[in-house]
Amino acid sequence: MRNVLVTGASTGFGRLTVEALARRGHQVFAGLRDIRGRNEKAAAELTALATDDGVNLRVVELDVTDQSSADRALDGVIVTAGRLDAVVNNAGLIFPGPLEAFTAEEAQRQFDVNVLGALRVNRAALPQLRRQGSGVLIQVGSLAGRVTIPYSGLYAASKAALASLTEAWHHELAPFGVESVIIDAASYPTNIGANAVMPADQARMGVYGETFGRFVTQLTGPQMEAPADPRAVSDAIVALVEAPDGERPQRTVVAPGPQLEATQALNAAALTTARTISADMGVSTFLTF
Ligand SMILES: NC(=O)c1ccc[n+]([C@@H]2O[C@H](COP(=O)([O-])OP(=O)(O)OC[C@H]3O[C@@H](n4cnc5c(N)ncnc54)[C@H](OP(=O)(O)O)[C@@H]3O)[C@@H](O)[C@H]2O)c1
Repeated sequence: MRNVLVTGASTGFGRLTVEALARRGHQVFAGLRDIRGRNEKAAAELTALATDDGVNLRVVELDVTDQSSADRALDGVIVTAGRLDAVVNNAGLIFPGPLEAFTAEEAQRQFDVNVLGALRVNRAALPQLRRQGSGVLIQVGSLAGRVTIPYSGLYAASKAALASLTEAWHHELAPFGVESVIIDAASYPTNIGANAVMPADQARMGVYGETFGRFVTQLTGPQMEAPADPRAVSDAIVALVEAPDGERPQRTVVAPGPQLEATQALNAAALTTARTISADMGVSTFLTF
């Protein structure tokens, strides 16, 4: 049994993950923001599931854009569980659209959730994990963090940043017995589209109107008619939580056939490059591969 905190558990991958982990006998803390407002229904459903199915699942208030919220959530989890084995940084959203149409303030909001959110939650969790000498930070990344397609520039930049942070944690925390890993997930049907935040500057949007429209039509065309099952991602998160300590892969790709193979090849090449550069810089003993 592992004690696990998952952020952004109201819908999508996060919701599937907390339900799957709880059903497999883990003690699960489902982090939701605004549990007395926008997420009241989701919180009630998760609490009912715990009672009805007799599983160990608790809802905790956690807005990843607020350090004091993260600190309170982690303090509560540690007091209740006594220890913490895994933190799943899943909370995220997408600001899609032409890069030129976004203001710097909108870009800050994209990074505030997808990048700084994980920094805040991990900062709150790490003193406990270091004390224990064990635990894993699991970040939910994206193929967009590896390959940038048009009109997802802000999102791609945020996921690339999240991947860089994951690698830095991986190297820096290894001496403390703490792991840091990331999932490179392909596109799966969740609420991410419904929750997308479009640029407010409609005039700049309009300049790209025709090509953006064609792109969206193609992206949501017939090839997407049979959407893949998002459980592929929650299953991968569960597998990482349950993997023996010290044996988790730094990157796990969850994607259909050709995307899976291409991303795995890219990750293998990146690993070779990292080994070469770190050896050349004389710092390879500080890096864990
Ligand atoms: N679906 C995909 O195709 C895909 C692919 C690769 C990676 N991802 C990543 O997977 C993760 C989960 O996304 P999803 O696809 O499952 O989308 P989703 O159904 O929209 O779920 C996103 C979750 O993040 C939460 N969230 C947003 N802002 C938050 C905040 N400030 N504090 C706490 N929670 C917050 C949402 O809560 P509210 O209900 O309160 O908004 C929701 O629970 C994200 O990091 C996303 O970037 C998704």
